[in-house]
Amino acid sequence: MAERVCPVWIGYLLLSPLRKLFQNPNKILSPYVKNGMKVMDVGSAMGYFSLELAKLVGANGKAICVDMQEKMLDVLKNRARKVNLLERIETRLCNQESLGLDDLKEKLDFVLAFAMVHEVPDPIPFIKEVSGTIKRKGYLLISEPAGHVTEENFKKTISVAEQNNLKVIERPKIKGSHSALFQKE
Ligand SMILES: C[S@@+](CC[C@H](N)C(=O)[O-])C[C@H]1O[C@@H](n2cnc3c(N)ncnc32)[C@H](O)[C@@H]1O
Repeated sequence: MAERVCPVWIGYLLLSPLRKLFQNPNKILSPYVKNGMKVMDVGSAMGYFSLELAKLVGANGKAICVDMQEKMLDVLKNRARKVNLLERIETRLCNQESLGLDDLKEKLDFVLAFAMVHEVPDPIPFIKEVSGTIKRKGYLLISEPAGHVTEENFKKTISVAEQNNLKVIERPKIKGSHSALFQKE
């Protein structure tokens, strides 16, 4: 069962510099995200991870940031503009039931879904849609807050991913979270 969607005021809190002490975007993403990649931050909110994704993909890459709340994406764009990363970022407003990503079929090298799957009303169509955007041998990193999601429920998410051609290849240790890195088969 989905929990309520993260409100905008929490979106601001998620940008706190203190968060870097336990969830450092560069440390979390740099092992997987390389120059020139096309990547996606789904449930990006105000872009705590998106700006790092944009840095890592470089001038020839692209970071697509998807969220169902327009205000989150507006703040993300302002933040990206201030640090000259807006050109590498594409924001997309979606609705809660569908991401609307038909044009990205098997186009992405890496997708991040951080602290958001538990907010999605039904993870089955959601993960199917996300998996459809990932290239063969591309990656999906799902990380869920341990305070909201039990390991047992996280395993249910893993099982849905496994039914959608995604194989667990690593369980990264990210503080305060249950995390899994999948590779598309
Ligand atoms: C807790 S925030 C996490 C934000 C960001 N990933 C981070 O870790 O800082 C969850 C975000 O997911 C978005 N979200 C929730 N359900 C969604 C859905 N079905 N489709 C797209 N975005 C969704 C919310 O609007 C919110 O911005």
